Amino acid sequence: MEQEALYQLSRSLQKWILESAAYTRAQIKQPLTVNIKSGPNDLVTNVDCANQTFLAEKIKTAYPNAQLVGEEGAGEVPDDWQQGLTFFIDPIDGTMNFVKQRANFAIMVGVYEDGQPLFGIIYDVMADQLFWGGTQLGVFENETALKDAIDNPLQEGLICVNTQMMVTNELHLQDILRQSSGVRIYGSAGITFAHLVKGQVLAYISKLAPWDIAAGRVLAETLGFQVLQFNGQPVSMMQKEGMIIAPKQAIHEIITIMNDLNP
Ligand code: IPD
Ligand code: CA
Ligand code: CA
Ligand code: CA
Repeated sequence: MEQEALYQLSRSLQKWILESAAYTRAQIKQPLTVNIKSGPNDLVTNVDCANQTFLAEKIKTAYPNAQLVGEEGAGEVPDDWQQGLTFFIDPIDGTMNFVKQRANFAIMVGVYEDGQPLFGIIYDVMADQLFWGGTQLGVFENETALKDAIDNPLQEGLICVNTQMMVTNELHLQDILRQSSGVRIYGSAGITFAHLVKGQVLAYISKLAPWDIAAGRVLAETLGFQVLQFNGQPVSMMQKEGMIIAPKQAIHEIITIMNDLNP
């Protein structure tokens, strides 16, 4: 994409996300309609759906040829998503936090061009922090440029994880955590990516859907983090899958322990 078109895309997405955030903040004072999806820990509210519709309409109008994947939309990743522009929308990331805490949730959009990361935006709605950027732009927290990831070893960093994987000790996760500076669980992939790109945590280990990682992957990779499956392969962005987001040294250590490759 040409530089000027990318600036325009960046300005438009920032505007639309701030508009949906203003709506979300207004709705927070009203009673929410909460529905259960696959189980009691998988919720959707009227605000998730309203944000999905609002963002999808804005994107479709401005980019009629683009493909759209949204958690509360069709939800399927098209087989040909790597052709042209694809927008991945998570209209509220951290719906459980939204319902229980009325804080610690994000609105996110990730944009890919011919399958390559182009632009990502994560808005921590209640903290009023906007994380945005891409390979051609750099990464910003509001207007402040963020620095590249520091390639620290596992023992010098905090690790964010998926609760289920931690309690079941899947793939020796508890060994990994014991070798780190400690564990943090934020309940929102977007808020976790925000801590990563600010340099406050070293790694994130979880099972995430394409809309959970689309925006964060763009920002993290731009700053030098790697985003890999548990077996070290690239992520597919086609389905929910296990993945690690970390700088080079730590991701190597984590994959080694997970796959029991220690001598
Ligand atoms: C969830 C959150 C959570 C992560 C789950 C996601 P949602 O997204 O990001 O932190 O552990 O895997 O599904 O459903 O609240 O948008
Ligand atoms: Ca959800
Ligand atoms: Ca969501
Ligand atoms: Ca999500």
